[in-house]
Amino acid sequence: MTKPLVAGNWKMHGNIEQASSLASQLAANWNDLQAVEMVVFPPFVHLSTVKEALANSAVALGAQNISQHEGGAYTGEISGAMLVEQGCQYVLVGHSERRELFGENNVTVAEKFKAAQKVGLVPILCVGESLQERRQGQTLAVVSSQISAVIDCVGLRNVSRAVIAYEPVWAIGTGEVASPQQAQQVHSAIRTQLGNIGADTRLLYGGSVKSSSAVELFAQPDINGGLVGGASLEAHEFLNIVKLAE
Ligand code: PGA
Repeated sequence: MTKPLVAGNWKMHGNIEQASSLASQLAANWNDLQAVEMVVFPPFVHLSTVKEALANSAVALGAQNISQHEGGAYTGEISGAMLVEQGCQYVLVGHSERRELFGENNVTVAEKFKAAQKVGLVPILCVGESLQERRQGQTLAVVSSQISAVIDCVGLRNVSRAVIAYEPVWAIGTGEVASPQQAQQVHSAIRTQLGNIGADTRLLYGGSVKSSSAVELFAQPDINGGLVGGASLEAHEFLNIVKLAE
């Protein structure tokens, strides 16, 4: 069976002291939660502090973004090799905030996915529809085209080795969660798109996950964990969500 994965996306929140304290609390509790894989995504400048706090624990480290370029004159960018050097194992790719606010399109996202795997990072590919797209009945088409763009670039086998997070844009940071049925419908379509090779691919749900909504979501057959934003900034709540993925 696939080991569930619960990921905490800290976004651009907190300072070094808070990052260190949050990571230390997770490190102190991981031992009881070994049936679930835990990973946190602090801001770049907090990676080394968090890495130190997570030492001697199995909580993994990830980055929120990666350059599609290997190196060179790209002011402000961070390469995959630099992330590996910082101790990262995972990287978020195609988060809706990157797509919407920073103009990343399916092609950029696919290039970033490729760059991540090239250095041995596991990309968590984020996909999801806007509220308007859902209302127009385009949810499955949008999600499938976001995944196809990456398959076209790296191949189905490489996509199935990664993690995919379904995050409806209208549910991110809004307090509005997709119903377990809505989420399962999309997860099941993603599973079908991946075919046999994707039978064990971990598919996470993201969008206002809290411990109160996690139980039913994680009970769905094609949901293998969660990508948690706001609720991952509070150790107790995040650990509760991790417990529910067991
Ligand atoms: P949220 O964020 O849990 O605060 O909605 C999820 C995400 O952006 O990954």
